[in-house]
Amino acid sequence: MPRQFFVGGNFKMNGSKASIKDIITNLNNAKLDPNVEVVISPPTLYLSYARELLRPGLEVAAQNVFDKPNGAFTGEISVDQLKDTGITWVILGHSERRVLLQEDDAFVASKTKTALAGGLGVILCCGESLEQREAGETIKVVMSQLGAVAAKVNDWSKIVIAYEPIWAIGTGKVATTEQAQEVHAAIRDWLKNHVSSTAADNTRILYGGSVTEKNSGELAKQPDIDGFLVGGASLKPAFVDIINAQT
Ligand code: G3P
Repeated sequence: MPRQFFVGGNFKMNGSKASIKDIITNLNNAKLDPNVEVVISPPTLYLSYARELLRPGLEVAAQNVFDKPNGAFTGEISVDQLKDTGITWVILGHSERRVLLQEDDAFVASKTKTALAGGLGVILCCGESLEQREAGETIKVVMSQLGAVAAKVNDWSKIVIAYEPIWAIGTGKVATTEQAQEVHAAIRDWLKNHVSSTAADNTRILYGGSVTEKNSGELAKQPDIDGFLVGGASLKPAFVDIINAQT
């Protein structure tokens, strides 16, 4: 069975009630490729609001979740709370959290395990810095980020991997199709050798980093690119064109 194309919109810490309503109204009224799984991820405060406005069939992801059940964890949100409000996905391991909030591989893996155990889908981000790429460490860095998750999680059927080279995020400097395809193929190979052939065949591997309606068509043609995790452009009407990149 071919892998279903997946496009996520990571709003990051952007938006207001008014602008999120505009984005969702645009999505609800758009003609979207019915073969694409679409998930938007507004800031925590707007998750319920987005879920209420968004039409059925399109899903909402949180940008984070804690790795403990409900309790005395000020400022955190739990898997149960996300599920209670109809949120079905969570983005974990984003480089902005790894770098700015010092989330390490083990913490990302622990949160991934907790989210999956509670029934959420996980968009698991990985990717190297410019320094690491220039030192030839890209594959090593990405594999060790994924390896930490494999040490805690056996079932990858509800994980979507997002390869996001840090140097391409929000910079306008998109990875070339060859650079992206090379890493995606290496990730698929890693899945085959460290998880299972089934996981290698079925896991969607998204590209993230300055994706726009202009470059999405070429990227989408690569055999191991199964969709996108889009930041800045997901806030714009052109997000629809990225969702429809294969049409
Ligand atoms: O998670 C999406 C991301 O980090 C890419 O952001 O703004 O470069 O599309 P952007």
